[in-house]
Amino acid sequence: MKKRLITGDRPTGRLHIGHYFGSLKKRVEMQNSGEYDPYILIADVQALTDNFNNPEKVHKNVREVAMDYLSVGIDPQKSTIYIQSMIPEVAELTVFYSNLVTIARLQRNPTVKTEIAQKKDLFGESVTYGFLGYPVSQAADITAFEGEVVPVGEDQLPLIEQCHEIVRKFNSIYGDTLVEPKAVLSEAKRIKGLDGNEKMGKSLGNAIYLSDTPEEITKKVMSAVTDPNRIRKDDLGNPDICMVAYYHKLFTPKEEVDTVCAECRAGKRGCVACKKQLAHNIIETLRPIREKRAYYEARPEEVDRILIEGTTKAQKVAKETMKKVKKAMKLDYFE
Ligand code: TRP
Repeated sequence: MKKRLITGDRPTGRLHIGHYFGSLKKRVEMQNSGEYDPYILIADVQALTDNFNNPEKVHKNVREVAMDYLSVGIDPQKSTIYIQSMIPEVAELTVFYSNLVTIARLQRNPTVKTEIAQKKDLFGESVTYGFLGYPVSQAADITAFEGEVVPVGEDQLPLIEQCHEIVRKFNSIYGDTLVEPKAVLSEAKRIKGLDGNEKMGKSLGNAIYLSDTPEEITKKVMSAVTDPNRIRKDDLGNPDICMVAYYHKLFTPKEEVDTVCAECRAGKRGCVACKKQLAHNIIETLRPIREKRAYYEARPEEVDRILIEGTTKAQKVAKETMKKVKKAMKLDYFE
């Protein structure tokens, strides 16, 4: 039996190379290993928890994220891609689970805590009930599909831990019903931004998107932060503090990287030439992704069909789980 795998993203923007190295690559590998039955949700309801004032943004990005998934090799024949808000059982489960979680426990959740601190502009001094409770909704995302495996980055671990607690509490009160998921740390790495920031992100303006054109990629690479002490071409450079060297390590063959770094240290390589070479390598690496994305951009009805089919399949699974949950909770009045 294939293991049910659950993962997803909030559709708040197009996906970038940070997502690619951080999670997408791993998802495609897991999908192609044949060991899993992946369900990949586009978490529009969760996106609204911190974008409730911007429904247009969430709406638009559902299809953008779907096209990003398809372009990197998420295969709708092997993975079920679906839209979270179209699974009403997830919202229902969230209500049931909310009785099993205390407010204090949610406030202590490290991921939620960090995010609330980052979103002071939106929430001011008092966070919404919906945002504070999003770990409950995420537990519903996972358990509605009897998820066994959840591949996540480190920042998501507290959410999985909270899901475990909900599952255990539910099963101890209502009887063994829910499946306890296992978090699988994707050993993928976090990619720094072009400006050297620890995080790549839209709001930071330091990201290269999977959908960027070659011209956009070149322009962004030309603005990447290099060794600030290197002013003239024959100054000796330090690739250890240069973002261009950092990205060469991701996109350039090892031997070529060694040459790049040696020449930089010896003051024999200009930053402009170095950046052009990097831009070329990024453009070529992303070419198949960009071409596949262009295929889907030209065929929106095909993207919609994939989303409708995935969502229809997901609805059936969630309905089955809901039957079991209602029976366990004695909410099955006329069965
Ligand atoms: N919280 C995840 C993120 O921000 C998205 C997500 C929603 C998710 N529901 C999920 C991930 C269920 C894994 C499983 O990226």
